[in-house]
This record gives sequence, structure tokens and C-alpha cells, in this order.
Amino acid sequence: MIKVKKRKILLLPGDGIGPEVITEVKKIIEWFNKNKSLDFEIDEDLVGGAAYDKHGTPITDEVFYKALESEAVILGAVGGPKWDDLEFSKKPERALLKLRKELKLFANLRPAICFKQLVEASSLKPEIVSGLDIMIVRELTGGIYFGEPRGIKPIDNGERKGINTHTYTSSEIERVARIAFDLAKKRKNKVTSCEKSNVMEAGQLWKEEVQSLHEKEYKEVELKHMLADNCAMQLLRNPKQFDVIVTDNLFGDILSDEAAMLTGSLGLLPSASLGAKDKNGNIRSMYEPIHGSAPDIAGKRIANPIASILSFSMALRYSLNLEKEADDLDNAVQNVLDDGLRTKDILSKGKKEVSTETMGNAIIACLQK
Ligand code: IPM
Ligand code: MG
Repeated sequence: MIKVKKRKILLLPGDGIGPEVITEVKKIIEWFNKNKSLDFEIDEDLVGGAAYDKHGTPITDEVFYKALESEAVILGAVGGPKWDDLEFSKKPERALLKLRKELKLFANLRPAICFKQLVEASSLKPEIVSGLDIMIVRELTGGIYFGEPRGIKPIDNGERKGINTHTYTSSEIERVARIAFDLAKKRKNKVTSCEKSNVMEAGQLWKEEVQSLHEKEYKEVELKHMLADNCAMQLLRNPKQFDVIVTDNLFGDILSDEAAMLTGSLGLLPSASLGAKDKNGNIRSMYEPIHGSAPDIAGKRIANPIASILSFSMALRYSLNLEKEADDLDNAVQNVLDDGLRTKDILSKGKKEVSTETMGNAIIACLQK
């Protein structure tokens, strides 16, 4: 066994079911340290509502700097009704947006995979979703989420006006499109780029820049442009036509929820948010489950830890250069599902219901084999 250098992983469990699922991830990292002679240095801190309750801010500077210095950040989930009425800058979600923006994590990879063991859990017919494997690449640091001007201001007639601005520059579009084309080359070699070029100038620019990058560098990849509303419809009609979808921040938010739900496996899907390579070839990154904080089931020990565990597997693959370990972890998850273990969210007839903790332990037991 080779000893690799100490690498910092920052765990930010957050709110709701975040802490429960991240506890299982922590057990898995500790297992790798102990059994594979890896040397991950784990740190853990508060983010979101939990940080607001203790420090009056959704993310302290200290935690932000820890994130900057870590090789990978693994986040649980943030938010919940308790903090709904806070002013905008204090809301738990601001922590997430700050991490994305200031770590420059411009590419958000959201796989929508239909696990064969869960075909029946989809609300679509099995033949439509079985074998589904889409990768949504969502732009994560631009568009209407961050554009200026923004705000709510009074206007002359006594009304108020809410303002947000949707902007993209050529380079912002090009760098995320590049990620999509590179991923497609390792998959089915097909990219669908989604925008609303029929109504938005920023959408027209999006389409032109993706097209021009394609012509310059990625002619061998099949490229299709699709209006985002059509894409939403096609995802329900015939999702298997897609391989990689690349789209802006807001459309990506919506389309990725839709795609995730198609699979019936919301509790199973991970995500990776990646930044540019630095001069040493390292990238900043953050990994999180697709699901939210699910306050309604928090503390009940029924949350599904698989999405978070597979997020760690993406970290092994994309940030830590440990492909073999990532494969082992993915296989352990498959084995546990094959054995019929299910948390409540994915339970079906004839399967065995287990707690968050039991699911984590079973995955470790499979790794052990
Ligand atoms: C997501 C979430 C976030 C977003 C929220 C929590 C700010 O919906 O990661 O998809 O809108 O990006
Ligand atoms: Mg979302």
C-alpha cells in the first residue's frame, strides 16, 4: 500500500438531515484512512442556519478560509423553515452561494442516473428510465444568481420593484462548455446546450459561444442546441436522448431537479462543483448531495446517506485522484442496494428498511469484503 500525502477534507454538515448523512461520510473517510493507509485530515465546521444560530452569520470568515485551504469540501445541506424570515444576507443559502462564487466553482456536475435497483421508484414508465445516465453541467457562478444590479427598490407610484440581472460573458460560457465537451468525450460523445436564445440576448450569446467552441475544438463531439423549455419537456418525453446537458445557472437549477426526480433516486444522487485548475494542476472543489436539508425528517434517523457517500466518491475521483477507491465505494453502494437494503425514501415491497446509520455501516461492511 502506498502512503499518500496528508490531504485536508472539510466537512460542512449544515442543517436538517445534513449532520446525519455527513456522519456516515465521516465514517467512510475514517475507514479509508485506517484500511487503505490514506491520510485524509478531516476537519468539520458549521455552515448555514447552524452557523447563523451560533455566530449570527451563515458562514464565518474562519470557515471560509478553511474551505479555501482544503482539497475538497463536502457539504451536507443548508436551510430550513426556522431561518425563512431572515434578511437575505443572513439566509443559510447565502453560505452556499458565497462558497460557490468565491471558490470560483463555475462547473456543477449533476449526474442523473437511474439505478437498476430503483427503476420502479420513478414516476415514469420503467422502459423510459431504465439505464438512464445523464450528466447535467450547470454553470454555477454567473447568470441571474449573481448578476448586478439586483435588489428590491421603491418606485414612483408607491409600488416596489424586484430586480435581478441575467448576464454572461463569452469566457464564462466557454469555460463551462469546455467542461461539458470534455466530459462527453469520456461518455457517449453528445452535448445538448440549453438556453432561451429566442427571448434572451444572454441566451443568444450562450448559443453562439458554445457553437464557436465546438467548431474550433470539439468537432468530433455531437452538439445540439435546445431551448430550455423544450429540454424540460424532452426530459419527460424521452430522457434517454440526452448524454451531457450544459446550461446556465438558473435553467440548470431547474432542469437538474427534474432530471434527478426522473430517476426516482433523489436520495442517491451526488454532485460536484469544480473550479479552474491552478498552476499546480489542482482544482478547488465542493461536493454535495443533490437533495436538500429535508427538515421534516431531520433527526429521525431515516435520511438516506447514499447521495452524500457518492458525493465523497466523486471527490475521490475528481479531486483526490483516487479512481480505484472511488470505484470500490461505488461498487459497495451497488452491493448494498443489490442486497435489498433501503432507507425509507426508496423503500419498496420486499425490501428491508434500514436507518441512516445501518445503511452507512452496511456500505462499510461491503468495502471490507
Ligand atoms: C441547488 C439549490 C440551491 C440553488 C439553493 C439551496 C440556493 O437549489 O443547489 O440546486 O438554487 O442553487
Ligand atoms: Mg436546486
